[in-house]
Amino acid sequence: MTIKQFPKDFLWGGAISANQTEGAWNEGGRGISNIDLIPHGNNRQSIKLGYKKGVLDKDEYYPSHTGIDFYHRYKEDIALMAEMGLKVFRTSISWSRIYPNGDEEIPNKEGIAYYIDLFKTCKAHNMELLVTLAHFDIPMGIVEEYNGWKNRETIDLYVKFAETCFEQFGEYVNYWIPFNEINVVLHSPFSGGGLYFNDDENREQVLYQAAHYMLVASAKAVESCHRITPKAKIGCMIAGGSFYPYSCNPEDVWQSIIDERTNTFFVDVQAKGKYPYYMESYFKSKNITIDIESDSDILKQTVDFVAFSYYASRTSIADTSRAETNEGNIIISAKNPHLKTSNWGWVIDPLGLRITMNQIYERFEKPLFVVENGLGAKDIIESDGTIRDDYRIDYMHQHMLAMYDGIQDGVPLLGYISWGIIDLVSASTGEMRKRYGMIYVDKDDDGTGTFERRKKKSFDWYKKIIQQNGIEI
Ligand code: BG6
Repeated sequence: MTIKQFPKDFLWGGAISANQTEGAWNEGGRGISNIDLIPHGNNRQSIKLGYKKGVLDKDEYYPSHTGIDFYHRYKEDIALMAEMGLKVFRTSISWSRIYPNGDEEIPNKEGIAYYIDLFKTCKAHNMELLVTLAHFDIPMGIVEEYNGWKNRETIDLYVKFAETCFEQFGEYVNYWIPFNEINVVLHSPFSGGGLYFNDDENREQVLYQAAHYMLVASAKAVESCHRITPKAKIGCMIAGGSFYPYSCNPEDVWQSIIDERTNTFFVDVQAKGKYPYYMESYFKSKNITIDIESDSDILKQTVDFVAFSYYASRTSIADTSRAETNEGNIIISAKNPHLKTSNWGWVIDPLGLRITMNQIYERFEKPLFVVENGLGAKDIIESDGTIRDDYRIDYMHQHMLAMYDGIQDGVPLLGYISWGIIDLVSASTGEMRKRYGMIYVDKDDDGTGTFERRKKKSFDWYKKIIQQNGIEI
């Protein structure tokens, strides 16, 4: 047996988000957030994508309202993660727990106290913190009274939230991310950015304008972070996964370049400090005019590292009638005939992680951070109470090997954070049975269950990897 050793100080970690775990949606002074209006079931997609307005309906079940009850159980959960040996814990801050309506003068004390205690608990277990400011959530007060990210005024509300977090939590947090998967706003506008659409609106115009305001907000957060908590590093994050051309037909190759830009344009701005050359012609071709005001100076505030989630690669085809589409993932692409998919239709492509790492590093030359990777799968509790999730172990082992190769290629990688270290609500489907965790949570799709925690086989497997700072082959 050989062990492939990872760099000293490599940050092995586990990730969750506030909206998929905390629950306690109306406790501790928390205000209502966009995510609280996205139900499980038939209406989920149309609301999530911004086609239909979300309203609280007593006949619907809203998974975020209870999450996995992390709000009340975090001490127990963090202790389990510490037992696993996590070097870094990634979570997000619920914006409406800090500013319930979004525009208050003073932050909510109970919300601040909650996060301080959570972060102190992590520190007591020697875990670093990587904190996302907005992980698919925005207070509904901002959506309803300001039109959310359609409005330039939202930038200031976000910056106030960000600065409050840097001031209050800067002592504990060494790594920050302004927005989770910022590029997802283009694909899932209401969950990604609290956006609704009027019938007469040009959807792309609204999306790219909102994206611009988010990019300005992100640059301002970078400036504030560097000023308020200079010891910390602040990065950016996209839903990663390179676009492959479906064939060597130049039309497909060109299509893959265009598709790749919808992801990396965000990083072009956040890491290079200006709009890339190709966006001007793109906007013209789509009849999009952006209110850029005099934002070019603030955009020069660039990030310290580039983070990304990696679940799958994508495939681009110029003529979509030539291939089936793969709609499993939020970023829709052509079906890649060379790759298998998960039970939820997500492409499984470990080598794609090495490819993505190399492509992103080549383009931005900033340290990278894999802040999400994992397999959503159905788990079975055996009669002896064990959960033998070998499929998850195999998936992660393959991805870690590819990541190791990427590091050998010379890509500087700060760490690897496994997504859904504990089972949580699926962002795309609202299900619980789509499980990512190494810790099982007894909760079902309809919200029933004891919420009891249980270690899966992968728990000890990951613990060993972290202990030896390497993977066995
Ligand atoms: C990422 C998100 O897109 O993928 C997470 O940042 C999400 O919030 C994860 O949970 C997995 O996606 P899903 O839809 O299977 O939960």
